[in-house]
Parts: sequence; C-alpha cells; structure tokens
Amino acid sequence: MALQNTNPTQTAAWEKLQQHYNQIEKSNMKELFEQDPKRAEKFHLQWNNFLIDYSKNIITQETIDLLLQLANEAGLPDAMTKFFEGDTINQTENRAVLHTALRAPESANIKADGENVIPEVYEVKNKIKRFSSEIINGTRKGFTGKNFTDVVNIGIGGSDLGPVMVVEALKFYKNQLNVHFVSNIDGDHVHETIKTLNPETTLFVIVSKTFTTQETLTNSETIREWFLKSAKKEDVAKHFVAVSTNIKKVTEFGIAEDNIFPMWDWVGGRYSLWSAVGLSIALAVGFGNFDKLLKGANEMDEHFKTTPFEKNLPVTLALLSIWYNNFFGAETEALIPYSQYLHRLPAYLQQGTMESNGKSVDRNGKALDYESGTIIWGEPGTNSQHAFFQLIHQGTKLIPTDFVGFVKPLYGDQDHHDKLMSNYFAQTEALMNGKTEAQVRAEFAKSNLSEKEADFLAPFKVFTGNNPTNSILIDQLTPETLGSLVALYEHKIFVQGIIWNIFSFDQWGVELGKQLASSILEEINSKTVKNHDSSTTFLLNYFLKNK
Ligand code: F6P
Repeated sequence: MALQNTNPTQTAAWEKLQQHYNQIEKSNMKELFEQDPKRAEKFHLQWNNFLIDYSKNIITQETIDLLLQLANEAGLPDAMTKFFEGDTINQTENRAVLHTALRAPESANIKADGENVIPEVYEVKNKIKRFSSEIINGTRKGFTGKNFTDVVNIGIGGSDLGPVMVVEALKFYKNQLNVHFVSNIDGDHVHETIKTLNPETTLFVIVSKTFTTQETLTNSETIREWFLKSAKKEDVAKHFVAVSTNIKKVTEFGIAEDNIFPMWDWVGGRYSLWSAVGLSIALAVGFGNFDKLLKGANEMDEHFKTTPFEKNLPVTLALLSIWYNNFFGAETEALIPYSQYLHRLPAYLQQGTMESNGKSVDRNGKALDYESGTIIWGEPGTNSQHAFFQLIHQGTKLIPTDFVGFVKPLYGDQDHHDKLMSNYFAQTEALMNGKTEAQVRAEFAKSNLSEKEADFLAPFKVFTGNNPTNSILIDQLTPETLGSLVALYEHKIFVQGIIWNIFSFDQWGVELGKQLASSILEEINSKTVKNHDSSTTFLLNYFLKNK
C-alpha cells in the first residue's frame, strides 16, 4: 500500500508551529536555561550507551509537542510500519526498502513480494563469513600460492562511501590486510592506487549494484588489464570477486559464478554497506566485527521501531532538523565528529542525506512549496575548529550542528582525550552563550588597551551566540556503536522524507549528467563537437585542441 500523501504545510501542526516560531524566533537559549535549571534533564535522551543532549536548541516543550504532532499528522507511524514490513515504499522504482532486513536476526520473517528474505540474507552472510575468513587466515591464496596482503574495493557512491567510511572508522579493529578504495573514473586515482600493489597478493572486489556504472566498469577493466600483464586469464577467478544484483553482467565480465556475492533491488546503494557491499569491511576487520556492526544497527532499528516518538532518537534528530530547515530557514547542517576515525562520516552522510532527500517534487509529482533536504557537511573536530568554525561562530548563517563524541578513547591516552573532549564541550557552550559586548569590554579593562582601541575592537570580538547544537555522546567507538550511529542517521533521513512528503529512496537526479557525459564522450572520441550552448562548445573545443 502506498505511503500517506500529506502536504506538511497543510497540517494543523504546521500552522501552529509557524505561529510558535513567530513567538520563539528571537528567544535566547541562555535565557531559556536561566528560566529552567532542569532544561538539560528535560531535553536529553539516553539509550544503550548513547546520550543525546538536545537542550542547546531554540526550543521549548511546546516546540517538541508541536513537532511530534507534525510527525503524527504526516503519517509517520503508518510509514514506519510499511517500511519495516517491506511494503513498496520506493514507489517510483516499485521496490521495497529493506536494508533493515540485512541486520535483522536469523529468526526474523521479513517479506518482500510475499517472500521471506531472511534465509537469502543469511546465505549471503555465511558466504561473506567463509570467504573473508579464508582470505584473512590465508587458506585462499593468490595465483602464485602466496597469501593475500591487499584488497582493492572498486565501486562508487554507495558502493564505495559506506565501506570506506566504516573501514576508516574501525581502523583500530583492523587485521593485516591493507584495504584500498578506487572510486573515481579519474585514471590518476586508479593508477596511483595500483602502482605499489603486487598482483600476486592483491584481491579485487568489484562492487556495483547495477554493474552498469561507467566509473566502476572502466576502473575494473583497467585493473584487469594491469593484472593480466603478470597473470593468465584463468587466474582472474582467484583474484576478482563481485558484489551485484546483475549476475549476467558480472559473468560476462569474466567473474566466476562462485565469486559473486548477490544483493537485492530492495537494498538502495546508499543503504547497502550492511549487505555484501560491506565485504571489504569484513575483510578489513573480520566477519565477527562486521556482524557486530550489523547488530548495533539492528538495535537502533528496534529502538526506532518500538520507542514512543518523544523518546525516540532518530525521530528527535529529524524533527529538530525540520524545525531549523523549515521554520528558521537554515540551509545547511554541520556534523562534527570528535574522532579522527570518523573523518569520512560527513561525506558518507552527504550521500545518505542529499541523494535521499534532495527532491523538489512531492509524492503527487507536484513542485514543493516548502524546503526539503538539508545540505550536510563537516570535518572532524578539532581540525574543523581551526578551519571553518569561524563562520559558525560569527558568520551570518544559522548552522545547526551535531557534535559526535566518545567518553572513552581507544588507545587509552587520557591526556589527549581530555583535551579533545574539553574542546567538544567548550564549542557547544561557546556556540550557545556567545560573548556579549559587556564581557568583551570587561576583558579589555584587564588589559592596557586605550579607550579608542577598545571601541574599535569591541564589535569584532562579540559573539552573538544562540547557535543550536546537539551533543551526541557515545561510550566508545566500537563496531556496535558505529552500527547504531549510522542507523540513527539513516532513520533520521527516513523520518524527514516522510514528513516532507517526498520519495527518499530513488535518485533520478543523478541520471541527466550521466546521459550527457556519455554523448559528450562520443564527441570527444570522434573529435566533433555537436550542438551545445556556446560555453560548453567553447570548453570542449579548448579541451580537444589542447589535450
Ligand atoms: O550516484 C548514483 C548511484 O546510483 C548511487 O545511488 C549508487 O550508490 C551509485 O550510483 C553506484 O551504483 P552501482 O552500485 O550500481 O554501481
């Protein structure tokens, strides 16, 4: 059954939220804290070893109540049931959306097109387990009988970003295999990656749901050619495996059927790291850790599915984001992990968030008359503090920011960790409190600045503050907590798409550029520039003349 189809701006909650916004817009968080000393107790959520403090937001209990009403009026409860039960909620591609089935327990019964998908999921999981263990412990060897030392994941978008993000995030748990990622069609990327590799000891994992993606096929062909300079055709079977739904195309590429790890059309690319797309994760950290990642995600699924909305982590994050996006007019959101391991998380969530919710028509195909998907960006703290935090503190734009931090470090270096985390706490406090002119002048009074110098400098040193943040504090970075964290953001994206009345699980917007690129490639190959606008013609002629 189709998803409910409600323009959120036509709900009673939206109208009330608009009125409420007009009253609260100028509120100062500092004052809200002064008025209610128990504010942090009220506006925080605790679940497993996650703490989310969302008290540093421009909200009152009324804001939360109205946002919850909006979620209900938009049909979130019904949408969640349909999502978890495998209804065809990706209506424009006529597919179920079942990445949650990939991390469900073996006893689950989750149906797509009337058939329980769990047995197949576990069959593939067992294949991943067997294969990754054999590569790691050296039972499977390369064509000259040597153990594998390196793995190259060849894929792009969801077939790259998830695996690379997790492999980086779980580096602490890694084994001896060196895992590399080739994604860009830029030949310099592939050649730079393979230049130091030994074909005798390198395994290639080609990941492409469709097996039609130009980047992945071109990179795979280049790598196969390079491999065949040292090996024979029959050795390809030992060194190349593929993850795809398109078994026919994979076999045509020359990969043995036994070396194919299937996936299903009910897994979206950007939600696929939990499937065999995560093979390079299992190779890097072992199947046991991969399984723990899935377990952590499943725990978040259960939390999302069963917890009342007012205590529900993904629902809360989604609603706060809608509050700023649709009422305050905030265009972007920052995500700052206080862990160097999570340096690819913002890039990963850019695909998740922006490919899912970067839509401008509603479920009726009508143009939206309200804002949808937010722009997401970020870099780890403290590096980002020395780069773009100036703009968050003193720029003209409102940038709600999620701070993700951990109570315990992995190497146990408490001195570093205390310094890191003091920055994590200080930033959210500074962003909220800012610094008034009176405070600035009181500081000046302690120095020997002249009055003229103080008058000149004061405006530049004032921080208006009142910048909203969520503090997500997790016990430690483990495969389980990472799984829960990623699933938290996946469900945030889902909730937002439901409320915005858009389809979050298609990505038609990436097609046009792809089509044009293939016709332009023909023009480049034949050196004949066809009909374009004058800018494109000019650029193409310049390229052809100088290449
Ligand atoms: O960028 C579009 C997209 O379809 C993504 O959604 C997907 O993750 C990526 O391309 C790669 O697709 P495939 O896995 O089919 O090669």
